[in-house]
Amino acid sequence: MKQRENFGSKLGIIMATAGSALGLGNIYRFPCEAGANGGGAFLIVYLAIALVIGTPLMISEFVIGRRSHSNPIGAFRLLSGKRNVWPVVGYLGVLCAFLILAFYTTVAGWTLGYLGKSVANHFAGQDLGQIQAQFTAFTNHPWLPLLCQMLFLAMTAFVVARGVKNGIERWSKILMPMLLVIMVVLCVKSLTLSGAGDGLRFLFRPDFSKIDGHVLISALGQSFFSLSIGMGALITYGSYIGSKDNMTSSAVSVVLADTLVAVLAGVIIFPAAFTFGIQPEAGASLAFTTLPMIFQQMTGGYIFCLLFFLLLVIATLTSTISLLEVIVAALSEELQISRTKAAIVGALGTAVIGLLATLSFRDGSSLLVGGKTVFDLLDHLTASYFMPIGGLLIVLFVGWKMKRADVMDELTNGGSLRAGIRRGIYLIIRYLAPVAIGVIFVSQLVRL
Ligand code: PFF
Repeated sequence: MKQRENFGSKLGIIMATAGSALGLGNIYRFPCEAGANGGGAFLIVYLAIALVIGTPLMISEFVIGRRSHSNPIGAFRLLSGKRNVWPVVGYLGVLCAFLILAFYTTVAGWTLGYLGKSVANHFAGQDLGQIQAQFTAFTNHPWLPLLCQMLFLAMTAFVVARGVKNGIERWSKILMPMLLVIMVVLCVKSLTLSGAGDGLRFLFRPDFSKIDGHVLISALGQSFFSLSIGMGALITYGSYIGSKDNMTSSAVSVVLADTLVAVLAGVIIFPAAFTFGIQPEAGASLAFTTLPMIFQQMTGGYIFCLLFFLLLVIATLTSTISLLEVIVAALSEELQISRTKAAIVGALGTAVIGLLATLSFRDGSSLLVGGKTVFDLLDHLTASYFMPIGGLLIVLFVGWKMKRADVMDELTNGGSLRAGIRRGIYLIIRYLAPVAIGVIFVSQLVRL
C-alpha cells in the first residue's frame, strides 16, 4: 500500500491548520457577533471558551488523528477496537464536513464574483441603494453565482488532489502569509480614519449587561465554527502530523492566531463603518454591500476593496481545502480509490447540495425546508447540532475511551511537555470540556 503522507514541518502544520480555521467565520461572522453581543465582554467570553473548550478539543482531535494516522472513520474504528459504535462519530464528522462545504461554497462563490467586480470597478460612484441592488441582482442571476461556486469547488479540488505536502501544505504556506499582509495593510488604513476611536470603542468596550445564556451559546457556536473543530477536519490534519511534532503548542498557536485575525477583522471593519456613518450590520450585507460602499468613499478605495475581496477568497479557499480533505481522506482510504478520483467525486457530490443552497438564496425561491432556506438550514444544523455533539463525543472518546497511557504518550511528544501541563490538559479533556459543552448544548435545547 502507498505510504501515507505527512506534513513536512511544524510550520506546515500550523499554516494548514490556521488555513482551515481562518475563514469567513473570522472575517465577517466574528466582528458582527462581537458587535451585537456586548463588544469587549463577548471577546472575553469568546476567549475563555476558545481556551478552555476550543484548545483541548483541538488537541483531542490531533491526538485521535496522529494516534491512528487515519481519516476520521478509520480513526475511530482503529482506536476503539472491533464491534463498536464509535466509528459513527467519524461518519457524522464526514457528513458534517460535506454539509458545511455545500453552503460554505455558496458564499465562497460570491467572494470570487466580488473579487471580479472589484477588479472591474463595479462599485464606483454608486450609492448604498445601488450597491444593495447589485448584490440582489448578483444572487438572483440565473447562472453567475452557480458558476462562481463551481469554479471555487474546482480550485479546491485541484489543490486537494495534489496531496498533503504538494497541495495543502504548499498552498497554505503561500496563502497564509499573503492573508496576514493584506490584513495588516487594511488595518493600518482603517486605524488612520477619523472614526477609528468610535469603531474601536464599539468593538472593545465591554458591556457586561449583554452577557447571558444566549451569548454563551453564540460564543460556543462561533468558536467551534471558527476553529474548525467538532467534526473531524482536525482529526484528518492531525493524522498527517509526525511523531516528533509538538501538537499542544501548535494547537495553542492556531487558537491565538484565529482569535487575533477575528479581532483584526473587527479593527478593519468598525472604524471604517463609523467613519462613513454606516450602521454596521450582520453577515452577508456587511461584507457584500456595506464594505464596498465604504471602500468606494475612501481614498485609494479601489485597491483596498480589491485587497479585501482577495483576502476573503484566500481565507475561504484554505478553509474549503480542509473541508474537502476530510471527504477525500475518508473516500480514498475507506474505498481504496485514488485521491484524484476521491476529490472529483467529493466535489461533484458537494456541487449537488451546494447548488441547492445557492439557488435557495433567490428571491421567492421555493427551496425552503420548514420555512428556512436550504442555506440557513445547513448552517443551523451543522453549527447548532453536528459540531457541538461531535465535539462532545470527541472529548469523551479521548478522555474516557482511549487508554490514558496512549493519550499521555501523544501529549508528551517524546517528553517535551511538562508532566503538570500534560496532566492538566488531560483533566480538562476528561471533565471540564465535556461538562461545559454539555451544559451549553442542553441549555440551548431547553430554550428552543
Ligand atoms: N473555520 C472556518 C471559518 O472560520 O470560516 C470554517 C470551517 C472550516 C469550519 C473548516 C469547519 C471546517 F472543517
